[in-house]
Amino acid sequence: MYKVIAAVVLFFLLPMGAKGQKHVFDGPSRLYGQPGVQFMQRLVPWTGDSVVEVVGLPKGLRFDKERSCVAGCLQKEGDYSYVVRVAHGGRMLRDSVRLTISRQLQQPAPFMGWLSWNVVESEISTEVVRTVAEAMAASGLKRAGYRYLVVDDLWHADSRDTLTHSPLADKQKFPNGMEEAVAIAHAKGLRFGIYSDAADRTCAGRYGSYGYEKEDATQYAQWGVDLLKYDYCHAPTERDTALERYRRMGEALEATGRKMLYYMCEWGQRQPWLWGEQTGASCWRTTYDTRDGWTGKWGGVGVVQSIEGMRPLWPYSGVNRWNDADMLCIGIHGRGKSSSDLVEGRPGMTQDEYATQMALWCLWSSPLTLSFDLRKPISPDDIALMTNPELLALDQDLMGQQAQPLWERNGLILWVKPLENGDVALGLTNMNDTAARGTIKLDEIPYLDHGKHYHVRDVMHRFSQTPTRGEWRVALNRHQTAVYRLAEMAEDEVTGEEYRMQVREQRCRLKVEFKGAENAPKRIVVTDPYGRVLSEQRGSGQRFRLPLPKEEYVVRAVAQGRACCWSPEEKD
Ligand code: GLA
Repeated sequence: MYKVIAAVVLFFLLPMGAKGQKHVFDGPSRLYGQPGVQFMQRLVPWTGDSVVEVVGLPKGLRFDKERSCVAGCLQKEGDYSYVVRVAHGGRMLRDSVRLTISRQLQQPAPFMGWLSWNVVESEISTEVVRTVAEAMAASGLKRAGYRYLVVDDLWHADSRDTLTHSPLADKQKFPNGMEEAVAIAHAKGLRFGIYSDAADRTCAGRYGSYGYEKEDATQYAQWGVDLLKYDYCHAPTERDTALERYRRMGEALEATGRKMLYYMCEWGQRQPWLWGEQTGASCWRTTYDTRDGWTGKWGGVGVVQSIEGMRPLWPYSGVNRWNDADMLCIGIHGRGKSSSDLVEGRPGMTQDEYATQMALWCLWSSPLTLSFDLRKPISPDDIALMTNPELLALDQDLMGQQAQPLWERNGLILWVKPLENGDVALGLTNMNDTAARGTIKLDEIPYLDHGKHYHVRDVMHRFSQTPTRGEWRVALNRHQTAVYRLAEMAEDEVTGEEYRMQVREQRCRLKVEFKGAENAPKRIVVTDPYGRVLSEQRGSGQRFRLPLPKEEYVVRAVAQGRACCWSPEEKD
């Protein structure tokens, strides 16, 4: 009975004139979530007005007017809807939102994996799949959550089977067919992805799937494929045609009965964040191909261009509808193939720049697709960056909010990402070509209770800074990003004590003593005045000896801290 009344009320609330016109708010009207998981929709009316009210919210969700968002948690699976109302120019504009809560979502968190294109290109083969699968398992990448091994373009034979029209793999590269490659990946506990194109040819000129969607989807399912990356080279430009072509493949995949993740790749040219989910896809590329450089030229997408592409799109991302910023170039170090052209200067980035790429992708909740050469040894620095569990936890956060740029000052961008457990992640990116300093002020950050103390976790260095309710300064190298996770402090939590000291002698040894065993710290940490960790020691004793070069330091004894840790689910 309640449902009938709600449906009648909603019918009258729905806008007469709004059918087919732009939404009242900048963002999707088709959203997804999981039962028992916090949901959030940040509402940004394009009119610049504030949202007046949200009507028809199911029990469990509430409208937070101050933060302009719908938030809460629904326990039951099902389809829900509500209406957003905005007063504009003497009229009341309305928009309806449909929310599906399900345990069976195609992509509850952004997928993580490795794609063959950037360094392997045409050399793809069963042997490459075998080597890469082994390396993914042995290097810790799989354990960290990178589970999809995706064979990109150029796996194809010259043509499909002339009788059945089924797709065939290149016999030289895959002598025992694609089944064997899929089985190798599966045996290592990985999922297998494949590539095709919504036209008669792929980007690199092999046969495409247009007109053969059914044959291809059926064959992929029989091979045991788990993901399809579907490109858009050689296809008509209009959005309606793209929607129709992507939908055809989406329906063909669905019809196979096999669960396959559907990944659209039309490079953001037709704003797929507005319609992508109508095709059955759960993520879509937002830019042209990323390049292994800080700045791209003539259409090349360096980190700078990725930021330009992704920064306005935060209202459109969400659970099961991810904006994909394309392949990560971490670990390539200028030795890629297509990833090495169209960059300003020589290809390759500094480690700070690679770390910024990783940090931003995670703050944006982009799918994480590595693309470096897994046939060669991986450096410890690279692997640490790719597998930093606290950074990956931001990417995989189940509330699925893409970080919004809160401000840009003196070449620094501050990113804010609300998280499922109520914490808030911040990123500060230095876009300047020189080192720079900035200040983060908690009273500027939405989603926090201003006046309360917050634990401040340095996510990149995996270290807890002094809790604060005020502000702190950040020093950044050129193109570096600092990432923090803020967690509200319980009233009765003990804070660390802080000592600021100047070391005048060159490389002196610093002795720190604590009186009284009951005050003995659990941990002692030495940072520079900007919170960067220089040394960290654990111990229950009262004396610590730390060798330090000349500079100013902050020495902090940590009595109690709250760690944020994440370990991905092991399925095999
Ligand atoms: C396009 C895509 C790339 C890659 C190549 C393969 O350029 O955007 O990611 O798949 O095609 O040809």
